[in-house]
Order: sequence, then C-alpha cells, then structure tokens
Amino acid sequence: MIVVTAEKLSPIQEILELAKWAPSGDNTQPWRFSVISERRADIHGFDTRDHCVYDLGGRASHMALGALLENVILAAGRFGQRVVWQHRPDSPDHAPILELTFTPDETVREDPLVDAIRLRAVNRRPYRNCPLPLPAQARLEAVVQDLGYRVRWYPTLSARWEMVRLTSLAGKLRLSIPETYPVHRDIIEWGVRFSEDRVPDQAIGLDPLTLRLTRWIMQRWERVRFFNTYLAGTLIPRLELDIVPGLACSAHFVLIAEDGSSTLVNDLMAGRALQRFWLQATTLGLQLQPEMTPLIFYRYGVSGVRLSQAPGAQTLVDRITHKFVQIVGEDAGHAVFMGRIGYADPVSARSIRLPWSRLQMKA
Ligand SMILES: Cc1cc2nc3c(=O)[nH]c(=O)nc-3n(C[C@H](O)[C@H](O)[C@H](O)COP(=O)(O)O)c2cc1C
Repeated sequence: MIVVTAEKLSPIQEILELAKWAPSGDNTQPWRFSVISERRADIHGFDTRDHCVYDLGGRASHMALGALLENVILAAGRFGQRVVWQHRPDSPDHAPILELTFTPDETVREDPLVDAIRLRAVNRRPYRNCPLPLPAQARLEAVVQDLGYRVRWYPTLSARWEMVRLTSLAGKLRLSIPETYPVHRDIIEWGVRFSEDRVPDQAIGLDPLTLRLTRWIMQRWERVRFFNTYLAGTLIPRLELDIVPGLACSAHFVLIAEDGSSTLVNDLMAGRALQRFWLQATTLGLQLQPEMTPLIFYRYGVSGVRLSQAPGAQTLVDRITHKFVQIVGEDAGHAVFMGRIGYADPVSARSIRLPWSRLQMKA
C-alpha cells in the first residue's frame, strides 16, 4: 500500500499560505515567496504593466502586494508571531522585494479580521437594495483610518446613478478598444467555477446565454469589432456588468488617501487599506466588488499617457476624467480604490490560488 503524506509546512509557510488569498487585479497574484530561515522570508513582487493596460505604472499590482502584506501581518498574529517588513531599497519598482522578519511574541493578539481572509471574494452580481447601517459604515471607516485613509460614500439612488454613468462610460471604453482585448481574452478561464490563475467565466457576472455568445465573440478581435460596430456589442455586457449591479447595491465608495502622491510604499499602504476594508466588509456579512477602471482611466486622463490609438478613445478618456472629477471632487487626485458594496448571497464561483509549489522560489 502506498501512503501519500502531505509535506508539513513550517509556521512561515502556513502564514504565507493563508496570506496568498489576497485579492489581485484579474487574479494575477503578482507575488512569489522565498523562505530563507525560520525567521525570514522575502516576497518577490512583479507587475504586469508591460502587457496589461489596467496596470498603469504597476500601481494595481503594487496595491495587490499591499493587500498580501496586510494578510501576512494578520496571519502572523494567528500564529503568535510579530512581523516587521521593509521594502528592499535596491529592488526595482517593477519587481519590488519585501523583506519579512518574524519573531514569536506571546503578547501578539489575533485580529478578528483574520477569519475573513479565506471567506472574502469578489461578488460581481447585483446585491439587495437596502441601505448600509450607520454602525457598519462607521466600522468600515475605522479600519482604514489608522492607515491614513477615509471613505467617501455614494448611497442614494441619484448618487448611484451618477456612479453608473461613470462606470458605464468606462465599460464602453474598456469593451471597445483593441488594447484591452488580449487582457480580457487571456484572463478568463472558460467553462469553470474555480480558477487557480485566472478569473472563472462563471464569476464574471454575465448570464449563461451572454456568456456563451461572449466566449464565441472573444475568440477573435475582428468579431469583437464587428459586434461593437454593427450590433451595439457593448450594450448587453454593460447592462449586466455595470448598470444593473451599479444600481443594485447599498452604496458605491471611494477610498481617499491623506497622502495622494504615487510612490511604491504609498501604493502598498493603499493595498493594506483596501484589504482591511474588504475583510471588515466580509466580517459584517457584506459583499463587495472593486470598480477600478474609472479610476485607472482617470489616471490616464490626467497623466497624459495615451490609453488607446482607437478613434474616439481619447474623447471617452476625457469624458471619464471629467465625470470622475465631478463625482469625487477635490479628492479625485487622492482616490486610491473604489467599488460597490451591499448585501447578497455569497458567490458560488470564484478565483482560487496557485499552489504553494508554484509560488515558492528557491532562497
Ligand atoms: C487592485 C485591484 C483592482 C481590482 N479591480 C477590479 C475591478 O475593477 N473589477 C472587478 O470586478 N474586480 C476587481 N478586482 C478583484 C479581482 O479581480 C479579484 O480579487 C481576483 O480576481 C481574485 O478573486 P477573489 O478576490 O474573489 O479571490 C481588483 C482587485 C484588486 C486587488
């Protein structure tokens, strides 16, 4: 008889195994780990700015890395460890290394947010239309305050409409330019409920019929262009992905940083804040979906970096930039994360994560 025994993980491996359930744009998991000793490990970050238009300046990847870091800090508490982290200064921004030092410490208290790490998942479906109770709002504000962030809320029907106008404009741009086509084609895993390294089609938020059509259309850019040009191809996906869910929620929100300057460490901190916010939401029984494309396209708009060569794309970028400033006001330049939140049944399809064997680098 052959007995297969699972390899026992060290405490640091256990901490990183739990921490890996952090969110990342399109489930890219822009991190690998090397465990150096019983006390030391490094996180090797990378970004996708060279092939993903949503990763402008690597900022989305840096935020994902920050979310992972927050998970490491929380998970270390569960294992009675205190962790000190630092960004290795000689590591480049596109491949940052975060050095972690763990010390056993009996006085470390487990943060209740740690229980939400495995439960948290993006929910792109419509939520119930009930208001967010004020105590829940206050808890969500409190978990990001210490890190230097505050929350702008958009709960009323008119405020949600304004947000829907913005996200739907961003949806139109996103679904019609050739620069996003390879990204969308490559990040969806078709015909599955769970995906280790991509987004399962059943977690996207489209109904089964539209999903089948979308799968067929997305096989070739010419089909996408034909549907967009002659058959209003972006209309149904925008209805299902932006308009209906954008109205069916308790509120939209924007996280605002005290320090709005764009540095690697600030983006890591923004990632820590978004993760605390999301874990707190999960703890309160709330569902959440990030809505980052309007913010990313606004950043293209203000930085002057050209998003697309397609005719009409720049006009849409300018309209999104204008609308974004109209909605977020004087805080626009300090916005780091946005999304929608509300009550709904948990998702049954979700991204899962790469196994430890694929995340581990030899030290
Ligand atoms: C920085 C960042 C940006 C994201 N942007 C979006 C977004 O615009 N729309 C969306 O539906 N999900 C967005 N996500 C969620 C990811 O797609 C999701 O975390 C990933 O697919 C893994 O799935 P999970 O969070 O359910 O584990 C974002 C996540 C991060 C960390």
